[in-house]
This record gives sequence, C-alpha cells and structure tokens, in this order.
Amino acid sequence: MRYTASSAIALVLFFSAASCQNPAARLLEESTPQSVNTSSAGTAPESPQPPKLIPDPPRKDLSVVNIKPIETLHDDGTHDASNDAMAVLQDPTVAMQEFPVDRRLQINWVKTLDQGLIAPRASLDGKGEMLVMDMDILFTNTKDMPYVRFPHLQHTKWLDCSNCHPRIFIPRRGANPVSMNKVLRGEFCGVCHDKVAFSLFVCERCHSVPHERSGKWW
Ligand code: HEC
Ligand code: HEC
Ligand code: HEC
Repeated sequence: MRYTASSAIALVLFFSAASCQNPAARLLEESTPQSVNTSSAGTAPESPQPPKLIPDPPRKDLSVVNIKPIETLHDDGTHDASNDAMAVLQDPTVAMQEFPVDRRLQINWVKTLDQGLIAPRASLDGKGEMLVMDMDILFTNTKDMPYVRFPHLQHTKWLDCSNCHPRIFIPRRGANPVSMNKVLRGEFCGVCHDKVAFSLFVCERCHSVPHERSGKWW
C-alpha cells in the first residue's frame, strides 16, 4: 500500500517537473537570438528585454534632482503672460545672462556677489549694513569624503547671525549632531541648501577639503 502511494507521488512529481521544463525550454529558445554563435555554448543566453517582475516604485518629486535653468517670466508659472505690464518687466534670462553658473547650470550666487554683478540691500530702507564675519568651521566626520568647510564669511554676506543661531545651530563647535542623512532630510545645512541656496548635489562646494583618507575627488 505504502509502496504504491509513494511511487504515485514520485510519478506525479516527475510529470510536473517535466511539464514545467517544457515551457521554460521554449522560452529559452525564443529569447536566444538567431545569431548566437554555438561555439560559445555554456554562457547563459542573454534575453534582449528581460520580463519586468517588480513595477517601478512611484517617482518622488525631489527638488534635489530637478535641474532648473533660468526661466523666462512667460513660463515660470507665476506671471500672467497675457498682462500688458509684462512688457516693462526685465526678463531674468536677460538680467542674469552674465551671471556665473555651477556645473548644474544653476547660478553661483557667491561668485555673482563677489564679482559685483549684484548689490543686495542689507535692510528694507537700504541703510542697514551686514555684520560680516570671517570664521571657518571644519566638519571632519565625513568618512572617505573630503572634509566640509563651513565658511561664515560667505554666509554672513547674505544672512544674519540669528538666521542660524541658535535655532538651526547652537553656536559652539561640535555641538550639533550634523550628518549627511539629516542634511538631505532638510535639517541643519539642508534647511537652506537645495531650497534657497545651492543644490546638495554639488557635493564639492561643501566637501572641499581633501584629507589622507579621501584622496582627491574633484
Ligand atoms: C551643504 C553642504 C553639503 C553638501 C552639498 C554635501 N554635504 Fe555631505 N556632509 C555635509 C556635512 C555638514 C556633513 C557632516 C560632517 C560632520 O558631521 O562632521 C556631511 C557628511 C557626509 C558624509 C559622511 C557620512 C554621513 O552620513 O554623515 C558623506 C559620505 C557625505 N557627506 C557625502 C556627500 C555627498 C556624496 C554629497 C553630494 C551628493 C554631499 N555629501 C553633499 C555637508 C554637505
Ligand atoms: C548659515 C548659518 C550660520 C550663520 C548665518 C552664522 N553661523 Fe555661526 N556657526 C554656524 C555653524 C554651522 C557653526 C558650527 C557649529 C558646529 O560645529 O556644530 C557655527 C559656529 C559658530 C560659533 C562657535 C565657534 C566655536 O569655535 O565654537 C560662533 C561663536 C558663531 N558661530 C557665531 C556667529 C556669529 C556672530 C554670526 C553672525 C555674524 C554667525 N555665527 C552666523 C552657522 C552659522
Ligand atoms: C540659513 C541658510 C543656510 C544654512 C543653514 C546653511 N547655508 Fe550654506 N549658504 C547659504 C546661502 C544663502 C549661501 C550663498 C548662496 C549660494 O551659494 O547659494 C550659502 C553658501 C555656502 C557655501 C559657499 C560656497 C562657495 O562657493 O563659496 C558653502 C561652502 C556652504 N554654504 C556650506 C554650508 C554648510 C556646510 C552648511 C551646514 C553646516 C550650510 N552651508 C548651512 C545658506 C545657508
């Protein structure tokens, strides 16, 4: 009794294995290009378009991957292109055509200011003055990436101390648990960078100080 039962199972297994093999073999034949050289037998035949089993995850619209060159007033989505007053407005593509850009074609505002191409007001009435301070902070917890040099100079030409201290950064060296992950999630440097300051994907502008472990990246 037991013997017949197990041989029946074995038979079923044999047949199901055989019937499974057939379509697979057919698939292989179909996907093998005609021009394949038979002497290279043994290497797996390459299917030109492998079947997609897992659908692509929905795309997240991250600002970090959106490269935005300068927009004209007509296509910035803010201005009413049919309004007569459009004619008196200077178009940014004209106003900013001389401005230096970075390798992502975004305006390099640090260079633009340094070259005197713009002269922003320090206060609404134009009588205020910026409190400019030249002090670099070196962030060295960068693994194999070059260290990060944070320059107070370039920041305080645009920003007040109170824009960063104490809400974003406690003003004490090493007092803030900064990491790249948090920056990418919009904390610390990421409060501004990728939003109102240059993109986080121009790594070299922050990771600008090579060290023994990092070698030279840029
Ligand atoms: C706005 C400045 C800025 C930019 C741009 C930037 N980083 Fe960072 N990065 C930092 C800071 C700040 C740290 C933290 C360093 C510390 O705590 O000592 C850091 C840390 C890191 C670390 C160390 C590990 C970690 O998770 O903290 C890696 C790796 C890193 N960054 C890679 C990159 C890469 C790759 C890019 C470009 C795609 C990039 N960074 C762009 C500021 C920046
Ligand atoms: C764009 C942001 C930003 C602005 C604006 C800014 N700081 Fe800072 N400041 C930092 C960062 C980042 C650090 C380093 C914190 C760390 O190491 O964790 C720092 C550190 C400091 C420190 C500590 C230095 C040390 O050796 O411990 C002082 C003091 C300081 N800032 C004063 C100022 C003053 C005064 C101004 C205005 C003139 C100013 N900061 C503007 C970001 C800023
Ligand atoms: C409060 C806003 C703000 C925060 C926070 C901030 N930045 Fe900036 N950063 C700016 C602005 C604005 C500029 C000048 C405009 C530009 O270059 O886009 C600038 C410029 C810079 C520059 C000058 C680049 C050059 O070419 O000279 C560096 C480097 C830099 N940031 C690194 C950092 C790092 C590292 C942090 C975090 C530790 C940080 N920033 C935090 C707003 C900020």
